[in-house]
Amino acid sequence: MSTQLRLGIAGLGTVGTGTVKIIQRHASVLKARTGREITISAVSARNRDKDRGVRLGDYAWENDPVAQAQRDDVDVFVELIGGEDGPAKAAVEAAVAAGKDVVTANKALLAIHGQALAEAAEAAGVTIRYEAAVAGGIPVIKALTEGLAGNQVSRVMGVMNGTCNYMLTRMQNDGLAYDEVFAECEKLGYLEADPTLDVGGIDAGHKLTILTALAFGTRVDFDALTIEGIERITAEDIEQAADMGYRIKLLGVARQSGRGLEARMTPCLVPVESPLGQLEGATNMVVLEGDSVGQIVLRGAGAGEGPTASAVMADVCDIARGIRLPVFGQPAKTLAAARAGNAESPTAYYVRMSLYDKPGALARIASVMGDAGISIDRMRQYGHSSETAPVLIVTHKAARDALDSALKAMSGTGVLASEPVALRIEDV
Ligand SMILES: NC(=O)c1ccc[n+]([C@@H]2O[C@H](COP(=O)([O-])OP(=O)(O)OC[C@H]3O[C@@H](n4cnc5c(N)ncnc54)[C@H](OP(=O)(O)O)[C@@H]3O)[C@@H](O)[C@H]2O)c1
Repeated sequence: MSTQLRLGIAGLGTVGTGTVKIIQRHASVLKARTGREITISAVSARNRDKDRGVRLGDYAWENDPVAQAQRDDVDVFVELIGGEDGPAKAAVEAAVAAGKDVVTANKALLAIHGQALAEAAEAAGVTIRYEAAVAGGIPVIKALTEGLAGNQVSRVMGVMNGTCNYMLTRMQNDGLAYDEVFAECEKLGYLEADPTLDVGGIDAGHKLTILTALAFGTRVDFDALTIEGIERITAEDIEQAADMGYRIKLLGVARQSGRGLEARMTPCLVPVESPLGQLEGATNMVVLEGDSVGQIVLRGAGAGEGPTASAVMADVCDIARGIRLPVFGQPAKTLAAARAGNAESPTAYYVRMSLYDKPGALARIASVMGDAGISIDRMRQYGHSSETAPVLIVTHKAARDALDSALKAMSGTGVLASEPVALRIEDV
């Protein structure tokens, strides 16, 4: 084997050029740390003529990432194209089949095809590494697979979409409406080409799917995840939640309990004084809980050229050092199917509704909730227009199905002016 570790880097966008820059800038440090020279044999992207602000002349150019993955002078194929299918998937499969290790930042690919890819890689005696795929620069994959290897993990939580957290923070701090902040993000280029990937919780959901598999020894199963985005959150929700001592976050939570595996990416209320409640702007946070270690909080940049390339290079360095772990922390064939059911653990809920301003309306709602076995912790009525009155209820701990039957019964009371919004209050 060559003492050099020779990379083929496919994709020269934000992350790809960032990775090239680190390799050029830190060549001697990387060699000192890994004992091997890390070099680039070939690069690929769609447009050869684009000025990418980085020196590429020393590397072979490939138009086809599949051919690049199969080159004899490539030891590690670094996939930084993106997308769950198409050229990224074809090239990663080709690399594995050709006996190459793979490093990728592609959460969609792993969340959807991770099991098949892991089985193929392990059968071929190669590895697939993906630190950059979850929470950018935060070394959460390493924390789970290595740092917490001696723990039974009880819960994983995370704010893992910087754009959503930026939007919620802007709404919180500047009193802006969702549509105004959405328009601003579109203008600033903060949103994916398909914005539902961000605001619909799908991008963050891909990341949680990967963490769930690692934490609980289950197969990646994106379809088992409950997903709700932030589109229905209003400035009033944010203001009223703050009034009650909470912040609203798009929060991923995965936990294993007697009910089976619970994994959801939904807007939740968290106490304002908690680390998650204090998280502002585009920063990410992942909270890990293990039976021996207790709670660990990791915070940092979840995206961007430098942070994401930093994570890519961590994987490259591990491969250079000869560290080869199973793709999801244990052999892929031993991963259990995520048990269906996904019943949510009981929790307190925030319920926001608008009632017709007529006598007995509030009492009617309270009685419907009582009939469903839900007790009310706090209730507030806010200043209202002539016809409707906004009402906010915080419940004591309740089961989700009890809440759902209360919400259903409410719709038959004739006092609701619009569909209520119910958000979990996560015990953090
Ligand atoms: N950006 C971040 O902060 C971040 C954070 C975490 C993870 N990631 C992940 O990292 C990966 C790359 O993201 P990015 O932001 O760097 O994307 P990007 O800036 O859009 O770059 C994508 C690159 O892939 C190339 N490409 C696209 N289609 C191709 C094809 N058919 N054949 C060959 N090359 C092709 C593009 O070529 P051209 O330049 O010629 O168009 C471009 O260089 C994605 O999986 C993403 O989810 C990104």
